[in-house]
Order: sequence, then structure tokens, then C-alpha cells
Amino acid sequence: MTSTVITGIGELVTNDPARATESDPLGILDDAAIALDGGQVAWVGPAGEAPAADVHVDAGGRAVIPGFVDSHAHLVFAGDRAPEFAARMAGTPYAAGGIRTTVAATRAATDEQLTGRVAALVAEMRRQGTTTVEIKSGYGLTVRDEARSLAIARQFTGETTFLGAHVVPEGSTPEDYVALVTGPMLEACAPHARWVDVFCERGAFDEDQARAVLAAGAEKGLRGRLHANQLGPGPGVRLAAELGLVAVDHCTYLHDADVAALADSGTVATLLPGVEFSTRQPYPDARRLLDAGVTVAIASDCNPGSSYTSSMPLCIALAVREMRMTPAQATYAATAGGAAALDRGDIGRLVPGARADLVLLEAPSHVHLAYRPGVPLVAGTWVSGRPLEP
Ligand code: NIG
Ligand code: FE
Repeated sequence: MTSTVITGIGELVTNDPARATESDPLGILDDAAIALDGGQVAWVGPAGEAPAADVHVDAGGRAVIPGFVDSHAHLVFAGDRAPEFAARMAGTPYAAGGIRTTVAATRAATDEQLTGRVAALVAEMRRQGTTTVEIKSGYGLTVRDEARSLAIARQFTGETTFLGAHVVPEGSTPEDYVALVTGPMLEACAPHARWVDVFCERGAFDEDQARAVLAAGAEKGLRGRLHANQLGPGPGVRLAAELGLVAVDHCTYLHDADVAALADSGTVATLLPGVEFSTRQPYPDARRLLDAGVTVAIASDCNPGSSYTSSMPLCIALAVREMRMTPAQATYAATAGGAAALDRGDIGRLVPGARADLVLLEAPSHVHLAYRPGVPLVAGTWVSGRPLEP
């Protein structure tokens, strides 16, 4: 495999804890270089000391950051819900029931159609600097459709999540459906999944049902995560903290006790600003979480209902403008924060030994991700040390 050295980096965001300070959580190196070899970061340091390599790239003073880690996305679906979005913008509130529209379209789609859609969305993400994506099932809600959703997702990422407990499908009762999810559906899905997730919310699954699904998943070796406190306050965030889950996602409505529980447990709070944008709900206050010592991640939640964006740069801009994050905090949350939410030590940082996933920005610093919202700033992306075709 060819080695690469990138020199002339005006600002290198390392997210290296050894370089981070109170005023610089990103461990920034100015006038830097980075060497990639064997799919990993081999060296980072001053531009003048860069080692030789097969390929030399001059960044021309631009910034390099770790690739975005999008730790929450629902990419296996068919159809879209543009009319529902338009109605929301005209005043209709978001409700979990819209999921069933996508379930009907997804069940009717062929494997080829679903695979093609995932491929297109992953390509769209890559063009915007995402180098790792988590993909959930949850729009099949039958044994066959959940298992094929995960088998398709598995072709694109190792970070796959079984979300059979998304909503109770039409024609079933909550009791019967939880029995299906924790029984035959889990049996068929576990081989394709790393994680198990539950939409713990009024209108979806309650605390006891969430506990049952997470416990059954754990018996099959799946690690738990939750959708919680999205549409109102609820038990999900505290449940995630009590069970010591790696991450709990949405966290839009939090009581002080929820924030304290997250700080105690170390559970990552994944914020999804695209959801508040697309549902016209109030944005959660990220600074409240950060001030309490909670690790925060930002993800897209890309799905046809509540957040049909694949853009991590847009999510960063929204988090800065609407969730009281600094550009540095938001950049960290979209890279190292996402890695923490997936319990991955090999990504989200540019340090020797990490996977060589990085993004060259058409900008002199990470601040431009929020300062220039909506502008395509990704000038180049490397995944495991290989450049993506432009
Ligand atoms: O993460 N909250 C539940 N699930 C998705 C929305 C799904 C949909 O509306 O289709 C979410 O927001
Ligand atoms: Fe989601």
C-alpha cells in the first residue's frame, strides 16, 4: 500500500488528548504535516520535519481534520416524506406515527432498490467528509424485512444497529410485537448487528419494554443504545445511564437529574440538530451537558422523517448556532464524540496508530464549518489512508 504525506497544513485538528488544553480541546497543530502508512496515521508533527513518502500532497495552508463519525443514521428505507415535512413547516407537529409510512414503502421495495438508496446516501455522506457511519434497521418491522435491512446495512459499515423496536407496526399489539422483537426477529437480526436500539418514547416503547429489548439483545451479544427524550421528558435517558449504555441519542428534553445521571455514568449524549431543524422543535442546550462534564456527540440522524440531511457540516453549524456549542466543541463532537458514541478508539483522532480517516477543508480552520454554513468545504477525504475519488 502506498504511503502518503500531507504537508503545508495550516491547521491540523488532532483531537489528541495529550495535546489538548482548556482553551484548545482539539489539540491543534499549526503549520503541520501528517504521514499515512498501512491505512493508519504514521506520524504527525511540524511541516519542516515531515518524513518522505510515496505520495506527497501540499495542503497549501488549508486545514485538515479527522473524518466525521456519524454515529446515528437510518439509511435503509424507500420513498420519502416530503409532504409530511411541508405540512410540518405549515404547523403540523411531528409524531412518531409517520414512521409507518416509510415502513410500508420499505417493505414494498426490492433488495436492489434498498441497497441502491443506501449506496447513494453513503456516497453523499462521504462527499461531505463522513468516514464512518452507523446504520440502523427499523423500517421493516417484520423478521424478514428487519433482517434484510441489516444484511444490506452490513455491506456498508460494521456499525449496524438492530432497531426492530422502532414503533409497533399496524396490526400488532405492543405485547405481541415485543415478543417478536425479543424472539425470532432478534434471532434473525443479531448475526448482522453490533448494536441494539429502542425508540423509548410515548407513542413508541415504554421503559419496561425498552429494558426487555435491551436485555434480550445483550444475551445475543448486542450492545445497547437508545433513542430517548426526543418528543418530551421521559425515562429513557436515565435508563441508559442506569444500564451504563455507551450512548443515548436525541436528549432534547432533559431534567437536571437526567444531566447528572449522564455525567455520572459516562454515557455519551448524542445530539441530532437536524431533527430539531426538520421538526421545528426546540434545540437542546449542549452547553448545559458540557458544563456538567457529559461527553457530547453530534450525528445526522439521516432518515426520511425527522431529519433528511446527510451533512455533518450542517449539523455542526446548527449545533454552534442553536445549541450553544463553540465551533471547536462542535467539531470535536462530530469526530471524537461520534467515535466515543460507538466506543471506537481507532477513529475520530489523528494520532499515530489511528485509522487514517481525514478531511482536507477548503478553509484555513475548522471554524469555517460553522462560519460558512451550507458551503461545500470538503476538498479531499482519505479513508484508511486511501484518497476518495472526487
Ligand atoms: O431518530 N425517533 C425515532 N426515529 C427517527 C425518526 C424516524 C422517522 O420519523 O421516520 C429519529 O428521529
Ligand atoms: Fe434516529
